[in-house]
Amino acid sequence: MPTGPAIILTLKVLVAAVTVLLLAALGALAAGRPRLHGRLNTLFLVLTLSTVAGFEVVLQFVDVKAAFDPATRAALRVHLLFAVPAAAVIPVMWVLGRTGRKRGHVALAGLFAVLWAGTVVTGVFFLPH
Ligand code: HEM
Repeated sequence: MPTGPAIILTLKVLVAAVTVLLLAALGALAAGRPRLHGRLNTLFLVLTLSTVAGFEVVLQFVDVKAAFDPATRAALRVHLLFAVPAAAVIPVMWVLGRTGRKRGHVALAGLFAVLWAGTVVTGVFFLPH
């Protein structure tokens, strides 16, 4: 079974990796390549939702109280407060983008940016190293 620190390190690497992908997707948009933005973000969606699902599965096999001290559990709860709504918004963003509903897509981008920034800050910097 993975140990608490191994789970957290894996989580940090995955959050950082998909954030690079998201930034590349925004770069594609800035470079006037919306289709590339869409394709990179499709990959972002698949990897992010797999990470959330994988994390949930791993937690089923781990004694959470033994693996994480109370401070870490509190930090994980704050992280999930951002990560779970972010994961819910991503498929909505994808559908709006794919169906060409640009106004709805861009309107939701503000909320998504706040949720994702919270996910990164609490997932990479607030959890113990
Ligand atoms: C975070 C800030 C984001 C902004 C500001 C943004 C902005 C945009 C804009 C302006 C377009 C329309 C481009 C055009 O047709 O000229 C677009 C398209 C699209 N976006 Fe986003 N987006 C963001 C995040 C996302 C996310 C998180 C996803 C999916 C998980 C996504 C998926 C798509 C898709 C699939 C398209 C359609 C691309 C195509 O035409 O093939 N976007 N986005």
